[in-house]
Amino acid sequence: MSILVTGGCGFIGSHTVVELQQAGEDVVVVDNLDNSTKAALDKVEEITGRPVKFYEKDIRDREGLEEIFTKEPEISGCIHFAGKKAVGESVRLPWEYYDNNIHGTLVLLDVMRKHGVKNLIFSSSSTVYGNPDAVPVTEESPKKPCTNPYGSTKSMQETILTDIQAADPEWNIVLLRYFNPIGAHKSGKIGEDPNGIPNNLMPYITQVAVGKLEKLHVFGNDYPTPDGTGVRDYIHVVDLAKGHVKALKKFDENGGLYIYNLGTGRGYSVLEIVENFEKATGVKIPYQIDPRRPGDIAANYADASKAERELGWKAENGILEMCADSWRWQQMNPDGYGR
Ligand code: NAD
Ligand code: UFG
Repeated sequence: MSILVTGGCGFIGSHTVVELQQAGEDVVVVDNLDNSTKAALDKVEEITGRPVKFYEKDIRDREGLEEIFTKEPEISGCIHFAGKKAVGESVRLPWEYYDNNIHGTLVLLDVMRKHGVKNLIFSSSSTVYGNPDAVPVTEESPKKPCTNPYGSTKSMQETILTDIQAADPEWNIVLLRYFNPIGAHKSGKIGEDPNGIPNNLMPYITQVAVGKLEKLHVFGNDYPTPDGTGVRDYIHVVDLAKGHVKALKKFDENGGLYIYNLGTGRGYSVLEIVENFEKATGVKIPYQIDPRRPGDIAANYADASKAERELGWKAENGILEMCADSWRWQQMNPDGYGR
């Protein structure tokens, strides 16, 4: 038995491959290296001491996927990370986002079912809750319209997977709604390697800390939150990765659709992140307050108790560990993987 990991060279995928291998699973990775490099898997192999089978292919390439399933008949399930994820870029390039994320997923599902593989864990996002009426959000909180094409692709992929599972109850489908993954593997060998100037808070902060960027721009301090800055549920990427290993147990069911929030249940504001980063690392982060970023919401954090109850999973790392581990990765690899 082995697990096909799409997008396994990326940030969350590479950390998940480590946890899968360390849990004794055999892994096959498919990635088109659109937003990553094979070097990430070389580092994974250094960490685990086990080889990873790798196919450089696009999940929209039906023949390419057919070849993988034919050559690797022991694949029994898939963890599907492959997709484009930059919110701002998706507003400029909606076709590319719908094609990559929706079309890619449809091809993958079709090839899987043709090979009788009907177990899938999908990377969804807290973005499907839109601007929530109340926090923390539970899995029952209503899905809301998304403010950008990226978010819409996640919401639509959830709908597609739900409909496919309803029509063919042999499928086991797990929708994991991630909150804000940060941090890096404790070894400092793998981590987040954003292209160009980071859009997300933690990689921006670590690049300020390492001297590549001058100061942090805090997007708005007039939100209805305790200090006026945006509140999010940051989760250590290794905890998130472990959530996928726990979710594998759903592949033993006789078909079903399962939805879990993966977060810590605790929200931190932008200024609290700056404070904790300084405390964890001793590095001062200069910042200035800028206007709100369009499309941002005031606050979102998870009720993650369902994952604890049903999967036996709970985030273990606190905010200081997340900051320290992000910083270790950035310090050891100032240019990421040097793409
Ligand atoms: P990432 O960009 O680091 O990883 C995605 C990987 O998929 C990359 O290695 C990329 O090269 C690959 N890929 C993209 N399109 C492909 C295709 N058509 N065929 C094959 N490979 C392809 O992103 P990540 O942060 O690791 O995110 C992984 C998944 O989790 C994504 O689906 C993302 O939308 C979702 N997610 C991420 C976050 C986050 O904040 N990082 C939050 C919620 C959900
Ligand atoms: N922020 C700043 N300055 C920055 C970057 C971010 O002040 O330079 C603020 C934002 O306004 C927000 C918070 O920091 O209040 C977090 O912003 P991120 O961009 O790191 O994360 P988001 O919550 O906006 O969105 C991210 C991903 C989405 C995903 C969502 C939930 O970009 O794709 O987490 O998983 F859907």
